[in-house]
Amino acid sequence: MNTSQVTVNHHADHPGFAGAAGLLCAAVFLAMGRANARLALDIASVSATDRVVDIGCGPGVAVRAAARRGARATGIDPASVMLRVARAVTRTSDRVDWFEGTAESLPVPTGEATVVWSLATVHHWKDVTKGLAEAHRVLAPGGRVLAIERQAADGATGLASHGWTRQQAESFAAQCRTAGFDDVRVEGRGAGRGAVWWVHGVKPWGKSYRAEPSIVVLMTAMPASIIASTSPAASSGSRSAVQEKPELPSLFATTCAAPL
Ligand SMILES: C[S@@+](CC[C@H](N)C(=O)[O-])C[C@H]1O[C@@H](n2cnc3c(N)ncnc32)[C@H](O)[C@@H]1O
Repeated sequence: MNTSQVTVNHHADHPGFAGAAGLLCAAVFLAMGRANARLALDIASVSATDRVVDIGCGPGVAVRAAARRGARATGIDPASVMLRVARAVTRTSDRVDWFEGTAESLPVPTGEATVVWSLATVHHWKDVTKGLAEAHRVLAPGGRVLAIERQAADGATGLASHGWTRQQAESFAAQCRTAGFDDVRVEGRGAGRGAVWWVHGVKPWGKSYRAEPSIVVLMTAMPASIIASTSPAASSGSRSAVQEKPELPSLFATTCAAPL
């Protein structure tokens, strides 16, 4: 079977988390989310320069982990009960904020993130094509996308089916490539009940940030005096005439009073 045809959001029809049952699930995710959060930090090499968007953050374990590394982090979830718990257990910090929203419509401006991840959540997305288009939109060039899902056996049912088979992980990777991500890799990690698949990709640098060969040829064919008088880069003597990667857009200018 073509891996791109395998459904990866087989729990898209989940009714959502609410009420007392939602609170109970939030408590479970608080306890169970640590391993994935640690893995996400390592795979995405999160540092203090990063701006992380967590799609389907639940009670926010991975958001807080990213903030502890010094990154700015935004948790997004459609379930208000999850966000209530996330806020309640997080100390106030201007590095963390929370928004109600979905993968398919992220409340994040274009190009604002350097890392977008979704942990144990893609299998719930309503529309994977839209979710990946949104992840691509909010990432700055060079930004990383990451999904982690528990390893599930073929034909698993009930709770055990809340994860991916290898084929589903490969299918999601294929959809990441179709959505425009480069260097997409799939790997398995761990063993037994803790085993997970992760899929990681990179948003390519746009064409406008690369040297255009035709421009380089034109410049080198010109006399040095003309280049010196017309090129600010050449005349300053300190920068290459080829455009450098621009500064990433200033991100998450809005601070929030959410606790860390
Ligand atoms: C199993 S929980 C994982 C929570 C958290 N990422 C963790 O690892 O602890 C799945 C989360 O995905 C959220 N979710 C469901 N549908 C979603 C969608 N379409 N977009 C974003 N998040 C969604 C749920 O509300 C829930 O908080």
